[in-house]
Amino acid sequence: MKHYLSLALLGLLALAACSKPQPQPAEVIPSLKDAFPDYKIGVAVSYDLTRGNDSVAASLVAQHIKNIVAENCMKCEVIHPEELRYDFDQADWFVKYGVENGMQMIGHCLIWHSQCAPWFGVDRRGKPVKPEVLRHRMKEHITTILKRYEGRVHAWDVVNEAILDDGSYRPSFFYQILGEEYIPLAFQYAYEADSTVELYLNDYAMSSPAKVQTYLRIIRDLRQRGLRIDAMGFQSHMGMDHPNWERFEAAVKAFVDEGIDVQFTEVDMSATPTIHESANISDTVAYMAQCNPYPDGLPDSVSVVWNERMTRFLSIVDRYVPHVRRVTVWGVTDAHSWKNDWPIKGRTEYPLWFDRQYQMKPFLRDRLARYGE
Ligand code: G3I
Repeated sequence: MKHYLSLALLGLLALAACSKPQPQPAEVIPSLKDAFPDYKIGVAVSYDLTRGNDSVAASLVAQHIKNIVAENCMKCEVIHPEELRYDFDQADWFVKYGVENGMQMIGHCLIWHSQCAPWFGVDRRGKPVKPEVLRHRMKEHITTILKRYEGRVHAWDVVNEAILDDGSYRPSFFYQILGEEYIPLAFQYAYEADSTVELYLNDYAMSSPAKVQTYLRIIRDLRQRGLRIDAMGFQSHMGMDHPNWERFEAAVKAFVDEGIDVQFTEVDMSATPTIHESANISDTVAYMAQCNPYPDGLPDSVSVVWNERMTRFLSIVDRYVPHVRRVTVWGVTDAHSWKNDWPIKGRTEYPLWFDRQYQMKPFLRDRLARYGE
């Protein structure tokens, strides 16, 4: 009898065990890191996000991203507003956020004609400073910032947007006062400040053959001087009609053939009609209703073409692995994009990889499905 009772008890226990909800495997939430095994996927983060003021965006970044760039907080006008005063508050939040979240961080940007503090190139009378004064200011600016973030910021956009589409040097005050020398000087000062960080050139509209040739010449010169240059940054601010993919790919190939890695550093793609292909901040345009055709949402017909174009962009990027270091998207969701206010203030844009509902866009879901298999 006892034997039967113990068997019955065992049966009951087994039944109970089966009926108890079995621990489910943790939900495997696909991450972009899985869909891009050959290069880093990054994102530009705002001061707001690093301050914890956008928890949903921060959760997306935590899930998908391991590489972040400072969208604005390390620009000269923010970090060095007066010659004898730095303001590291926003940059410190960026670095604190990156360290706490185990992110690889990119500093953006050390020498740039735009958003440069107004004092940087002039004397007290507002006249251009002498070359030796500008060299001192550049060296002090670069050294102070790199020393502060040494060991935490992995790489820097040293010189941003130096060359025009026709291949000539942008006539910034850096160029007008120091000539072509300002670029190697910037890289020299950065390397002397911290020889461990990666150092980059960065520019937009890189499909221009003339621009490519000038950058190749600059890179050869930097190398001949024994200066460090780790990659050429293609900002990749795109639209529904640019870049021309053949010219874009020819440009990427030219740098890879030169033996320099490439990276796509500010990726976005306007879904609205192209106003111009510049990304120069001062190239703004007055509001025109016809340039804001989708204020209440993107038509499916446009979204399909947009996703096809972003897939085409990534197919070109993939072809140059392992010479691609990273692809950084210039913001987390469409709502965060600078393009909602540039070059036209107050239009609704759809340029990034996550939409306003924080959902990844179809091209990305397709890629995850393909790579996630
Ligand atoms: O932070 C101030 C805020 O305190 C103030 O109330 C507000 C009033 O306008 O301005 C805020 O600063 C703005 C900043 O973005 C942060 O939102 C600046 O005015 C605005 O000019 C700045 O725009 C940035 C732009 O560069 C100029 O620096 C965009 O967010 C940023 O996406 C864009 O990024 C550039 C890259 O650095 C270089 N390549 C081109 C790219 C797009 O232009």
